[in-house]
Amino acid sequence: MSDEVPVIAIDGPSGVGKGTLCQWLAARLGWHLLDSGALYRLTALAAQRRGLPLEDEARVAAVAVALDAVFVADVAGTSRVLLDDVEVGDVLRGEATGNAASRVAALPAVRAALLQRQRNFRRPPGLIADGRDMGTVVFPQAGLKLFLNASAEERARRRYKQFIEKVIDANLAGLIEEIAERDARDAQRAVAPLQPAADAEMLDTTRLSVMEVCEWALALAVRRLAVRVIP
Ligand code: C5P
Repeated sequence: MSDEVPVIAIDGPSGVGKGTLCQWLAARLGWHLLDSGALYRLTALAAQRRGLPLEDEARVAAVAVALDAVFVADVAGTSRVLLDDVEVGDVLRGEATGNAASRVAALPAVRAALLQRQRNFRRPPGLIADGRDMGTVVFPQAGLKLFLNASAEERARRRYKQFIEKVIDANLAGLIEEIAERDARDAQRAVAPLQPAADAEMLDTTRLSVMEVCEWALALAVRRLAVRVIP
């Protein structure tokens, strides 16, 4: 049955605007949303909280297998996340957790441990999948694959703005450096590196507004998948 459930796979580096696009598309289509980055972030947080070194592949993978994470959607379209029954809050979205996530995401056993959990998000009427390897590894049969990019400076600026709006302490110069380091690790790792699928539609969003990116993606979804849009 899950073969018939349509998937839109959306990949790209950090801070490119995938999260906003994916939430918007999921709301317009009434589809489910997979924030795969959150699973890597939660694995890193859970490992840190258990005092494990992030490079201990076997033990971090065991944490990923047993990950007790619950996503609770709220009316605004964002979700609260519970780890081991406790709300994780803003620490999940911070750059320190993003970096820790990128370290555990380079471990093959951790990726293998999270694969089926990600595929389980594919339920009717459809799934918007947000990540780095959605179109290449997790949903290679997705009916539509999008790959977003933007300059590193613009992505750092967008992240900075998001952090400031949420009153999270941030430093632009530091963010540019951290994002560059995370991109390099994600693009150069041996398993499931950040790269577009051969059949992905590419878009450079550096000079585009959020709505321009959303309309581009929706137009492709309507054309390719004949989706029904919620007015
Ligand atoms: O997208 P987000 O910034 O939440 O992802 C955090 C980290 O998780 C990324 O830098 C990447 O290393 C890892 N990740 C991944 N594969 C995915 C999603 C995220 O390796 N599908």
